[in-house]
Amino acid sequence: MKASDYKTEVAAAFDRAAGTYDRLGVEFFGPMGRRLVERVAPAPGHRVLDVGCGSGACLFPAAARVGPAGRVVGIDIAPGMVETARAEAARRGVGNVEARVMDGERVDFPAASFDVVIGSYSLIFLPDVRGALRRYAQVLVPGGRIGFTSPQFRTGTFPFLPPVFTELIPNDLLRSLPEQWRPEALQRRFNSWLEGPADLRATMEAAGFVDADVHDEAVPLVAATGEVWVDWSHTHGMRLMWDHLTADDAAALRARLIKALDEMRDGAGPLVIDTPVRFVTAQTPPVR
Ligand SMILES: C[S@@+](CC[C@H](N)C(=O)[O-])C[C@H]1O[C@@H](n2cnc3c(N)ncnc32)[C@H](O)[C@@H]1O
Repeated sequence: MKASDYKTEVAAAFDRAAGTYDRLGVEFFGPMGRRLVERVAPAPGHRVLDVGCGSGACLFPAAARVGPAGRVVGIDIAPGMVETARAEAARRGVGNVEARVMDGERVDFPAASFDVVIGSYSLIFLPDVRGALRRYAQVLVPGGRIGFTSPQFRTGTFPFLPPVFTELIPNDLLRSLPEQWRPEALQRRFNSWLEGPADLRATMEAAGFVDADVHDEAVPLVAATGEVWVDWSHTHGMRLMWDHLTADDAAALRARLIKALDEMRDGAGPLVIDTPVRFVTAQTPPVR
């Protein structure tokens, strides 16, 4: 699959999901985005670029930190996501935020125009991430900080899903997906540059960063019920899987997941799944 076709499909999937993205009663992207912003710690007055901003999981926590003297620019390839982020900024009355449609691989800003670049669960979608990282180093000031999150991938599971789903999603169903959407193909695409912390640090250094840190931490995903989780799973990366299942297979998987996830709940309590997340931070050298 050509990188441009893949990007078009990713953009279309997120565009279709934008109306409900992260609004279906599941807490995950919000806490992860807040944690990323906490780790990168933009200061009052900073200019922040949020790559693949979605509906604003990092945008708003970053805006609160930089305050009225700072500015946060969110970019996303899916126009629907940008509209959602803009509407949310208006609803919250946040004035130091803007959102624009832009490809994260072609960021169009002058050199040294940001103090911080962040991207939560978004850099994984970039086919040429090494080129994108080099560009982020250029748009950062000397001593500027970058931070992003990614899932921790597991063999045999659809990417983006925590390990518990290795058991819950039958392997033959994954094998029925078109070749380019099977876990191995996706893992090659997403994971090749994220696989080991040492490789990842080398990738960051080759792109012009120093002091790269790779930190793995679980973020609890909380959903009211199994059904709520399944509905939510249509609004993020897993949509790439749902979109390619037959109607019968999708219905059978839905029923199976709802039952199994509800069995994991503590009585009428919510479903809580500890989701391993990789947090990567680095900075540009203090002097160029
Ligand atoms: C899983 S969502 C994460 C959104 C947000 N950062 C959050 O944490 O909720 C991934 C986002 O990356 C965006 N994206 C994917 N490929 C992109 C690209 N090439 N350029 C910019 N954004 C991209 C998608 O449209 C989507 O909004």
